[in-house]
Amino acid sequence: MSNEKVPGGSAEKSKPIGVFDSGIGGLTVVNALRTLLPNESIFYLGDTARVPYGGKSASTVQRYSLEIAALLLEEDAKTVVVACNTASAVALSQLTASVPVTVTGVILPGAQAAIAATRTGHVGVIGTRATINSGAYERVLRSLDSEIRVTARACPLLVPLIEEGWLERPITDQIIMQYVGPLVDEGIDTLVLGCTHYPLLRNAMARLLGDTITLVDSAENCANAVHELLIRENLRAPETNAGSLQVALTDPPDSFLRIAREALQLDVGEVQLRDVTAHAPL
Ligand code: DGL
Repeated sequence: MSNEKVPGGSAEKSKPIGVFDSGIGGLTVVNALRTLLPNESIFYLGDTARVPYGGKSASTVQRYSLEIAALLLEEDAKTVVVACNTASAVALSQLTASVPVTVTGVILPGAQAAIAATRTGHVGVIGTRATINSGAYERVLRSLDSEIRVTARACPLLVPLIEEGWLERPITDQIIMQYVGPLVDEGIDTLVLGCTHYPLLRNAMARLLGDTITLVDSAENCANAVHELLIRENLRAPETNAGSLQVALTDPPDSFLRIAREALQLDVGEVQLRDVTAHAPL
């Protein structure tokens, strides 16, 4: 596959934005995209057959990501959004090198927002084990500001709690504080929610941490980055477009789809089932 990026032309503009995540959590990014860019159509692929990615090796997540990108290109995606922090952390450079349209991950937009938000220069990052072990957030944050202090922590219990729908429970509050309390004690003033599931815990975290800690949500900032990219590449859908959302999963939906749909108040319509392994990786 060549590295040549597809130029923006009138036919290109109405094509969908291809979005993927390891599962349902990336719908937080879709929600932010739908709010910001209602004229854009979105094709979302959630790899529910192989979720979670957060405990898997980088090479496995890279292979999965390239297979999914191949499917999104077949769906005519005009740009690809990696709505998964783990895949953004370990597979973004492989995707960028292999995919002939621009690829946007969630790490850079989240890091930029954190740099803009911090007053003390001490930023906390939470995410899956793979995301935190990759050091991707530290690298990007330091490339933006070499003086920045970063304290990162993997929070592997949060994804299962969210998928269980335990968004407002005393046990969830306790686990959040077990993970995040030490970061607060160390003096962070900004916390990057470095996992696509975590925006669903935003209310609980805001309640627990109060307004001394600024929460940075990768979903909203990723949507802003996609908006800027579409303008830059002259790929904005015409204003007359009624943007649509097509959701495809690799395994039949479970209760988490209902939980996410209710929490986000997102109309996902009829869900398709797709097999990404039928696609040769790029
Ligand atoms: N989507 C993943 C992320 O944002 C969380 C779920 C998983 O471990 O696959 O890191």
